[in-house]
Amino acid sequence: MRIFSGIQPTGSKHLGNYIGAIRQYVEGQDRGEALYCIVDLHAITVSYDPHELRSSLYDLCALLLAAGLDAQRCILFRQSDVLEHAELTWLLASVTAFGDLQRMHQFKDKSASQRELVSGGLFFYPVLMAADVLAYRATDVPVGDDQRQHVELMRDIAIRFNARFGGGEEVLLVPEHRIPSVGARIMDLQDPARKMSTTGGSEQGTIYVLDEPATIVKKIASAVTDSGREIVRSPEKAGVSNLIEILAVASGRTPQQVEADMADARGYGDLKKAVAEAVVAMLAPVRERYVRLRADEGALEQILADGAARASEIASHTLADVRERMGVGAPRQTRTLR
Ligand code: AMP
Ligand code: TRP
Repeated sequence: MRIFSGIQPTGSKHLGNYIGAIRQYVEGQDRGEALYCIVDLHAITVSYDPHELRSSLYDLCALLLAAGLDAQRCILFRQSDVLEHAELTWLLASVTAFGDLQRMHQFKDKSASQRELVSGGLFFYPVLMAADVLAYRATDVPVGDDQRQHVELMRDIAIRFNARFGGGEEVLLVPEHRIPSVGARIMDLQDPARKMSTTGGSEQGTIYVLDEPATIVKKIASAVTDSGREIVRSPEKAGVSNLIEILAVASGRTPQQVEADMADARGYGDLKKAVAEAVVAMLAPVRERYVRLRADEGALEQILADGAARASEIASHTLADVRERMGVGAPRQTRTLR
């Protein structure tokens, strides 16, 4: 099994990112060969500041290591260091349907919120994402629920590539998403109809991985619930359902177990207290490790450089195959492989 996921070096990562994605990355290291990519080329598709991009990249790299990624057990790298991603994006563009790109929810949402420029890069974002994964012939793509459509598209791109250029072979592997059954969509604590997000959410309803324990406790205490007192998940109880899911993940239980364990609680106050304790216990050690790791940018650069060298070794083989099949560049026998 080869696992691949990408994560944007923007904003501060929140509890949704942690539960929906980062936690799965850490587990992935025990399940197979895992590659994790900090996608700076995706980050430049919306308006951004170049200096901030560099420092957010180190922030995220330190955060991922603090959360439990181990450079000995996974390949952690920066997207722009492996040139094959950009090249494969262009090659795959020719088997990507324009109409499919127009249907992407994320493009519609993000283009609507851009004030100055809706870049061509934003439209092409899903092709770059397909290239990220397909370059490694990865089997599993751990992501949160909001990336489902993008993973579907990369599967279609791989299938179309194989049909058009594969000559009956699966030159590009068709990957599967790994969307967790619990915690794939953590909601904003203040507005449980909206997913927790750095761009669209409320400050008070978004828990950041690096929030201080006291801040986490305060945000959870003020989470929106409902006028009832029953601690069960149901569509009418979005706020309570969200808290139950968070508690389940943070305490290593199923949501059913949480409901059973909370059956004699005195009300939502008890639930919130339990959630706050479990979330603080889960995140506090990450925050402590982060501070130490973030201080040494040289060490972070070294980890990323090693990761890029290892990633490139794999991607260059795929690219050689793709070029050969597509009839692009000199034929393989006369060319020295990178
Ligand atoms: P991003 O920060 O946009 O690169 O997202 C990183 C990962 O976090 C992706 O796999 C997303 O699907 C996941 N994610 C983002 N928001 C949430 C959320 N509210 N709940 C669960 N997963 C999320
Ligand atoms: N688009 C993803 C997000 O916003 C990040 C991403 C880029 C990604 N490349 C990827 C995720 C490859 C999985 C696989 O969260």
